[in-house]
Amino acid sequence: MNPPTELMTDLTPAIDIYRQRRARVLDALRATGGGVAIVPTAPEVLRNRDADYPYRHDSYFYYLTGFTEPEAMLVLDARAKQNEPAAILFCRAKSAERETWEGFRFGPDAAREAFGFDAAFSFDEIDAQLPRIIADKPALHYALGSSEALDGKVRHWLDAVRAQGRSGIVAPAAVHDLMPLLDDMRLVKDEHELSIMRRAAAISAQAHRRAMAACRPGVREYELEAELLYTFRKHGAQAPAYGSIVAAGANACVLHYPAGDAVAQDGDLILIDAACELDGYASDITRTFPANGRFTPAQREIYDIVLAAQQAAIDATRAGVSFDAPHQAAVRVLAQGLLDTGILKRDLFAGVEDVIAERAYTRFYMHRTGHWLGMDVHDAGDYRERGVSADESGAQPWRTLKPGMTLTIEPGLYIRAADDVPEKYWNIGIRIEDDAIVTATGCELITRDVPVDADQIEALMQQAQPGQQAQPAHEAGAA
Ligand code: GLY
Ligand code: MN
Ligand code: MN
Repeated sequence: MNPPTELMTDLTPAIDIYRQRRARVLDALRATGGGVAIVPTAPEVLRNRDADYPYRHDSYFYYLTGFTEPEAMLVLDARAKQNEPAAILFCRAKSAERETWEGFRFGPDAAREAFGFDAAFSFDEIDAQLPRIIADKPALHYALGSSEALDGKVRHWLDAVRAQGRSGIVAPAAVHDLMPLLDDMRLVKDEHELSIMRRAAAISAQAHRRAMAACRPGVREYELEAELLYTFRKHGAQAPAYGSIVAAGANACVLHYPAGDAVAQDGDLILIDAACELDGYASDITRTFPANGRFTPAQREIYDIVLAAQQAAIDATRAGVSFDAPHQAAVRVLAQGLLDTGILKRDLFAGVEDVIAERAYTRFYMHRTGHWLGMDVHDAGDYRERGVSADESGAQPWRTLKPGMTLTIEPGLYIRAADDVPEKYWNIGIRIEDDAIVTATGCELITRDVPVDADQIEALMQQAQPGQQAQPAHEAGAA
């Protein structure tokens, strides 16, 4: 059976991209003496009894293959001779019986052709083929120490080669971690990746608009989550990129709160941190909005501080600056806001520098302002420069941003009830998160199809719920 036509059509333009990535890995391995790289995809994972979790391929494997079936492995032989295959796929064999139950699978022959490998074998042949491929090669490269199962298999294949030592066959004498090379490649996105990420971001933004429009006092968190999930799937995204956070009222102060069954009360803020994965790429958006469509003055005060912090971080995001620069810019605005509102006591600090030096803001802002974004929501890539001498603090310097790097910009403030904090701010948790592609002169925000300005959020909600009577701001209770 041939692969379904629509799959072939979609894949054709991408084949060269994956092939070029494999060629880059092979070139990099050759430059350091050659050897064989091994990249397996993710295992299937049992959820309960005989039901699996929805299958998700391994991101590194997908980055180099575009292949999404389970039970697959890529082998790149940087010492292959002219007439030998350098890019080899192992994948599930065709099976009329299994395909009746589980659906289409490519099988080695069609996979080799459709995905542009030099050779492909059935997954069942791995233990027979691997010792042959790695024999007489100087080194192995794989995700060293990341999985006991993989470490065990590598040892098994090495043992099989060593057992042939008396025939003059030599086993690889070195094993290297392949991940730093792949991490660096994944960190800077190409146009193919950026176009998928823009589409994922647009779907997620639309999901946030829908949730805002559906919100009113009395709605439960899971009902808003349902609006998000509906929109993701409606537009073809395969899954949420991470567990959706839908937090009403004080729940917004719990950073990883999963959508539960709490009822949004009149006067509550709702924090939603949720976004889809599309074609293997994540998006990541947070918006915070009032359940009744109108911010209270205290909520608005904090909201505008967080928004100003985000703008400062956006303004600090461009090629050539440190990864830490947006965070420092956001922290300064948040620290000043905490002093201005009296949430941090002005008489205890000489000024904003003092708040920053003492890290007093971390009681209300305890996470960083961003992370790499890509195939994984917290994407691959070092945050510090490698091979550069440490700075005066003893740490390696932060990474310098380059065009094509993609990151989130997500400051927040989380104010729990406490005697030393003005009561009007209690239980306000606000985060605002957008996704940015670094450019030479600044950054491209790809998640702004959902409003971020407080007036625009209120306008969207009023338009969606024209009959809803929000309490006038001066009557609304503290959140
Ligand atoms: N949604 C995960 C994060 O914002 O880091
Ligand atoms: Mn994030
Ligand atoms: Mn997020």
